Amino acid sequence: MPRQPLLENWTPEQADRMNRAIFVAQHRLHTLPMFSNEVLAELLDRHPREHLGVNTMGRDPVRRDEWREGSAGDLTGSELLQACEQGRVWLNVRRVRDYHQDYADLIRDLYADLEAAVPGLETFNHSANLLISSPGAQVYYHLDCPVNMLWHIRGRKRVWAYPLETGIVSDATVEGVLAGEMSEELDFRPEWDELAITTELEPGEIITWPQHTPHRVVNTEGLNISLSTEHMDRAAARRNNVYLANRHFRSLLPGKWNSAKLTGPAAALKEFALRLARRIPAIAPPVPQGYKYPQSFAVDLAAPDCVRLLDGASAEPAAV
Ligand SMILES: [Fe+2]
Repeated sequence: MPRQPLLENWTPEQADRMNRAIFVAQHRLHTLPMFSNEVLAELLDRHPREHLGVNTMGRDPVRRDEWREGSAGDLTGSELLQACEQGRVWLNVRRVRDYHQDYADLIRDLYADLEAAVPGLETFNHSANLLISSPGAQVYYHLDCPVNMLWHIRGRKRVWAYPLETGIVSDATVEGVLAGEMSEELDFRPEWDELAITTELEPGEIITWPQHTPHRVVNTEGLNISLSTEHMDRAAARRNNVYLANRHFRSLLPGKWNSAKLTGPAAALKEFALRLARRIPAIAPPVPQGYKYPQSFAVDLAAPDCVRLLDGASAEPAAV
């Protein structure tokens, strides 16, 4: 029996806008039994704890220094879900495809349906994280290097996406994020919200935006379950390589290396030269190293917000 498509009500005209605009559409992941509390608890029990991100955060969207890394300790999956329901906890089940066959199948089918729906779309380097988070939890203003899509499944969340045309993000910032020298969570000014496109995301909706569009998210109701997928396509790889080539060759060669133009022979040559440079140790750009937050809390059902600060952790997290 042919499987039911995972996207709903997509028209070719609408799908064609996906890579060019902040884009909301419908899917039907929220109707699948794999996102019930019972199945999620079992998934959390089976998922390797070293690939489970456990975080908490403050309430002010400007204070990204209040983001904390935590430990799930020996809590069961069901207890972790309870902590998400009643506390202020954000779980990131990383590399969910690698450890759960049903997710590997789901993400394969999602991308097959996407490529069938969007004219000309050919994706690669797929990755997926399952996000389980408390009512009121937030993800600070940041931008991502690949193309990312947020498939919302349970609860409600408000998403602010700041169109690239507003010029909030400079080319130097994108270069810094791609090179791993600047945290992907960037400084944020509340007045930028006036420039944002905001959406109250409901179960069964997916949001995506052009690559490098900065965004932030606040959960507004209930336990939130979302699947975050990332991918590349040829245009996305070209964009990242042109930015990285500008940054890299500016430090090695004369010239301004400022053009972010993605088409034409100069862009193709930059991409080629960067790929070549990566193979030559003497001139290869450094490989980005992500910042690792120290663990400063444990999830504890008896603590306020289900967050118990560890001995030695300051009530004020270290600025990063
Ligand atoms: Fe993101």
